[in-house]
Amino acid sequence: MMNILQVNKVSKYFGALGALEDVTITVKQGEIVGLVGPNGSGKSTLFNVISGVDRVTKGDIIFESKNITNLPSPAICRLGIGRTFQIVRPFLKLSVLENVMVGKYFGHPGKKGKFTQIKDKAIELLEFVNLADKKGAYPANLTLADRKKLEIARALATSPKLLLLDEVASGLNEKEVEEVVNLIHEINKEWKITLIVVEHVMSMIMKISDRIIVLSSGKKIADGAPSEVVNDKEVIEVYLGEPISQQ
Ligand SMILES: Nc1ncnc2c1ncn2[C@@H]1O[C@H](COP(=O)(O)OP(=O)(O)OP(=O)(O)O)[C@@H](O)[C@H]1O
Ligand SMILES: [Mg+2]
Repeated sequence: MMNILQVNKVSKYFGALGALEDVTITVKQGEIVGLVGPNGSGKSTLFNVISGVDRVTKGDIIFESKNITNLPSPAICRLGIGRTFQIVRPFLKLSVLENVMVGKYFGHPGKKGKFTQIKDKAIELLEFVNLADKKGAYPANLTLADRKKLEIARALATSPKLLLLDEVASGLNEKEVEEVVNLIHEINKEWKITLIVVEHVMSMIMKISDRIIVLSSGKKIADGAPSEVVNDKEVIEVYLGEPISQQ
């Protein structure tokens, strides 16, 4: 399978702090990659540099053979990289439906249409994440789980080929996590979207990931099959604390 994304020796400094140091990763078309690591290890920063929210200090990011390093984030979005934010960022003055429609307006070109088509598509996405009955509500009145689903629907509305999910399951109960797992599987298997998923909920990461990458203090310390990575001595030491039992 072709590489959809290559991050080549990327470093990101905030002053003297190396939030990312010489990080190299490749993601193949169709994969679900789990990205884990302790708090402050650079996971969100990696999403930020890939999606153009932060500029890299050094290194290159290649998406579908195109060098996208430090392009503005709307341009990267239009090329086909969608993302969610760890701290959800809905437009508070827009309804749930309007929030998803905004994603459609800003996303991948050629997938737009007339106002009514955009609206219909946004409703379809809300149905997909099981939020259609709240389409007229405002984000402030949604539960955390529903706000996370809105974030996913809005990211999907940009028609991404690669979707970056930043802690979409954190703070959710077991049943809500299960629902997110099912959404991720469908997004990947039915819609053929490649995903990188940041999450501290290890049971979820183990369930969905074809491969797991581990960051620690801005450096990549492991990259491989889930069963290998969770038995890696350094990963256990810096992150897991104890080996994870395999089902
Ligand atoms: N805009 C910024 N300015 C200064 N420092 C930052 C900025 N963004 C992130 N950092 C720092 O970079 C490091 C990596 O942060 P990052 O948010 O990427 O970690 P993370 O792995 O996503 O952590 P968490 O699991 O808590 O979400 C941290 O030390 C953080 O304080
Ligand atoms: Mg983070």
